[in-house]
Amino acid sequence: MTRIFLAGAGPGDPELLTMKTARLLREAEVVLHDSLVGPGILALINPDAELVDVGKRCGRASAPQAEICRLLVEYARTGRMVVRLKGGDPVIFGRLTEEMEALRAAGFSFEVVPGITAAAAAAAGLELSLTQRRIARSLHIITGHGADAGLPAHDWSALARAGGSFAIYMGSKHLPGLVEKLLEAGMAPGLPAIAVESASLPAQRVLRATLASLAGAVARAAPSGPVLVLVGEALG
Ligand SMILES: C[S@@+](CC[C@H](N)C(=O)[O-])C[C@H]1O[C@@H](n2cnc3c(N)ncnc32)[C@H](O)[C@@H]1O
Repeated sequence: MTRIFLAGAGPGDPELLTMKTARLLREAEVVLHDSLVGPGILALINPDAELVDVGKRCGRASAPQAEICRLLVEYARTGRMVVRLKGGDPVIFGRLTEEMEALRAAGFSFEVVPGITAAAAAAAGLELSLTQRRIARSLHIITGHGADAGLPAHDWSALARAGGSFAIYMGSKHLPGLVEKLLEAGMAPGLPAIAVESASLPAQRVLRATLASLAGAVARAAPSGPVLVLVGEALG
């Protein structure tokens, strides 16, 4: 029987947890969680479970991925029921591959449990559909953060040509550079662009702008929570 779960915690609102993840949290003996997982969700965890915040170990901003993989395998070896709880959906920018590979290499089987991803929660909160007949025939989920901590190496022209809606994760740090790339690639400066901070949480803030004005609006707002950027005609 599987005793190891890689589960999505959703965007923050505890009511947006799946029933399955909520049950796993009640039954877990160890929970390794990201720092994005807030107190409302942590409160649902079995009070006897060992909680490991892998987002804030050793006084660092976040533990290196290799250390998280090592811890995951170490806890799996104890034979206890382990839930690795990740913000949003684990299959979207969740470093899931590394953790699955570490578990497989150590001989453990596991189950991946989906969660609601930030883009879905942000769009729902805005009462906007990311796809729309004739206006947005595709949705592109992209990162705004490259592996080397700079801008990601996207094919910007291909993205601009593709049209549709864009959900940009981890985009706030390099937003001016991202916007510049998208404009250079041919996207219209007046394209609707929205930044949603802390989607689904009471602290949620929405900044509506155009592609050209978004970076300035976000800089002035100085967000402290996670920010998702949505761009496209359907966001108008
Ligand atoms: C490492 S990625 C994890 C994404 C996550 N697996 C998901 O499916 O939502 C972290 C980024 O997700 C976005 N994000 C996560 N939760 C968010 C929220 N509640 N509101 C806005 N953006 C969020 C932000 O862009 C943040 O920088």
